[in-house]
Amino acid sequence: MESLSTRHLTGIKNLTLQDVELILSTALQFKEIINRPIKKVPSLRDVTVANLFFENSTRTKLSFEIAEKRLSADIINFSSSGSSVSKGETLVDTANNILAMKVDMIVMRHPHPGAAIFLANQLKKYPKSAHAQIINAGDGTHEHPTQALLDAFSIQQSCGSITGKKVAIIGDIMHSRVALSNIYCLQKMGAEVCVCGPPTLIPKHISSLGVAVSHNLIETLLWCDVANMLRIQFERQQLKYFPSLREYALHFGLTKKKLDTLNKPITIMHPGPINRGVEITSDVADSGHSIILEQVENGVAVRMAVLYLLAGKHQS
Ligand code: CP
Repeated sequence: MESLSTRHLTGIKNLTLQDVELILSTALQFKEIINRPIKKVPSLRDVTVANLFFENSTRTKLSFEIAEKRLSADIINFSSSGSSVSKGETLVDTANNILAMKVDMIVMRHPHPGAAIFLANQLKKYPKSAHAQIINAGDGTHEHPTQALLDAFSIQQSCGSITGKKVAIIGDIMHSRVALSNIYCLQKMGAEVCVCGPPTLIPKHISSLGVAVSHNLIETLLWCDVANMLRIQFERQQLKYFPSLREYALHFGLTKKKLDTLNKPITIMHPGPINRGVEITSDVADSGHSIILEQVENGVAVRMAVLYLLAGKHQS
C-alpha cells in the first residue's frame, strides 16, 4: 500500500504530487462510503484525535469532527476560550499536556503563520509527545492544506481533471492562507493559476510563485475555467487596503450581471464564510455555476483521507 512522504500535514508546499494524488484518490473511496446508508467505518478505532482550535471556524472544525467520527476515532475538542491559555500556558505546554492523555493526533487551527510547523518541530524534543501527527487546519496567513485539497478534489469532480485547467483566485490574496495552499496544490497538479484583486491586496512578489497577476476582474473571468472567490479578511487587516466596500464590490465583486456578460461555462468556488454582496452576490453563490456546497461536502471525505493516511492504519 502507498504511503504519504510526510508524517505531518503542515502545508501543501512540501507534499509531492504523488502525496496529493494519493490523498485525492483515497478521498474518492471515502466519498463513496459516506454516501452509503451506513457511513461509519472502523479504520481509526482506538485512535484518539484532539481538535485544537485557537481561532474561530465553522466548516473546518465541524468537517474534521465528522470525518473523525465517520472513521470511528475517539475525539476531544479544545478551544482557547475557556482554557488555561488565558492563564498564560504556552502552545507547546498545552499540546504536551493533551498528548499526555494518550492522544495520537492533533488537528490545529492557529492565528499565527507557521504555528503547525513550530509545534511539529517542538514536539520532536519530548519523548512522550514525539509520536503525535500534526494536521494544520489553517495557520494565520500561511497555509490551509485541507482546504486546498478539498478545492482540488471539487475541481476534479466538477471539471473532470485539473491538468491544463485555468484557475483564478480572486480577492484578498495578501491575507489568505487558502490562496497560498491552492497555488501550491493546483500548480503541482498541472493547472495554470492567476490571482486577481486590487494591487494593495496582492503580495508584491507573488509572481515569483509562477502565477499570473491581474487587476481586471472581467478579463480574468474570461480567461479562467474556475473562479475561486475569496473573502476580505478584515480580522487580519490593521490598515485600510481599499476606499470602501462598495467600491471593492463594484470592481471585484462577482454579480449575475457580470457572469451573464461572459457567455461561457465557468465554475464558481468560495471557501466560506461568504460575505454576500461583497465578493459574490447571492444570485451567483446560489446559482448552477456554484459548487460552494459541494466543496463543503467534499471536505469530509478529503479530511477522512488525510486522517486515515497520516494515522498509517492502511499499513497495519
Ligand atoms: N473555509 C474555512 O476554513 O472555513 P472556516 O473558517 O469556517 O473553517
